[in-house]
Amino acid sequence: MSTPSQPNPAIEPIPQFDLSVQFAAIGAEIRAAIERVLSTQQFVLGREGTALEEEIAALCGVGHGVGVASGTDALILALRACGVQPGDDVLLPTSTFVATGSAVSALGARPVFADARPETYNLDPSELERRVTPRTRAIIAVHLYGLAADMDPIAAFAKERKLSLIEDCAQAIGAVYKGRRTGCFGDAACLSFYPTKNLGAYGDAGMVVSNSAELATRLRALRNHGQTAKYLSSEPGWNSRLDEIQAAILRVKMRHLADWQRARRANAAEYTRLLDQVPGIMPPHEPEGCEHVYHQYTIRCERRDALQQHLASRKIGSTVYYPHPLHLQPLYASLGHKSGDFPHAERAAQEVLSLPMYPELRRDQIARVVEAIADFVKC
Ligand SMILES: Cc1ncc(COP(=O)(O)O)c(C=O)c1O
Repeated sequence: MSTPSQPNPAIEPIPQFDLSVQFAAIGAEIRAAIERVLSTQQFVLGREGTALEEEIAALCGVGHGVGVASGTDALILALRACGVQPGDDVLLPTSTFVATGSAVSALGARPVFADARPETYNLDPSELERRVTPRTRAIIAVHLYGLAADMDPIAAFAKERKLSLIEDCAQAIGAVYKGRRTGCFGDAACLSFYPTKNLGAYGDAGMVVSNSAELATRLRALRNHGQTAKYLSSEPGWNSRLDEIQAAILRVKMRHLADWQRARRANAAEYTRLLDQVPGIMPPHEPEGCEHVYHQYTIRCERRDALQQHLASRKIGSTVYYPHPLHLQPLYASLGHKSGDFPHAERAAQEVLSLPMYPELRRDQIARVVEAIADFVKC
């Protein structure tokens, strides 16, 4: 048996994430889709993009989709379309990828952070009352790792205070909360199709979905230089258009998404079943009524850094999402936060570790990962 410090060159590496098996399976479909776009010579705002917008909106259970260049742009444009202006405050969880906060900052608004629930890592709704300010204009609820945030109390708070509610669905396309998929609980929801996402493009891409026709119309203008008619702009906008090749690739992948989500859930169930025998490791929690889509399978361990090194010595990849909560990022030093301000998020940042997770992960690979964790726990 190899010890933690003696890597065995003969064993197959298990990466934390691997797109190559997926591409081997769907490469021919992808090439045909790209060929289809090339044959039309229409590369921006065409039929593929429109069809994808309809398909994604239907998946999220809403009326409109507006394709944009990235998940970050989706957040910036959605906040802007909801009326967020310089000087406004926007409530958001401190446990998230930096883009959730920097989208707020990009508009000259101020991110106001909230702590996480320790068992789900998502925004704790009881924090909203405590953190809201007279200048708060909107809330962003992030569905971290593929698990829906607790949307009922968040939506109730937003409604009571007349705040806009935006879902950050970058990691959670298709995740279910109380019978409905994420993306339909607020004024708008933002998706990222970054290549590693559950539905990933072959480059950057994103989308805003909404039930509001008015918001969708404004977003269509904002993503295209504020144009409301050809060469007629009524407000400053961006160039943030979804390109046709990415849309065509995403439409191919949409046909497989349900199978891939099922495979992710089956892999997660297998991890959780095996980890049940391993003391000191907290597997992800799936609250009643939620269907996690396991963008990440994230465990918790007090000796997280040593565990990560041990896994690396067994050629097993793992990643910390995220080592620094937003309130402790140098980017937000001017907001004056300190360690201890958001204890649950800070503790999670020290203990979370995301294990290998992708639809094509094999049972024997999952068993090897858990065996390595069990060996570590014994030391
Ligand atoms: C929670 C969250 N929000 C926003 C984004 C930004 O998406 P993108 O990388 O497509 O700009 C990401 C993507 O990494 C994310 O994980």
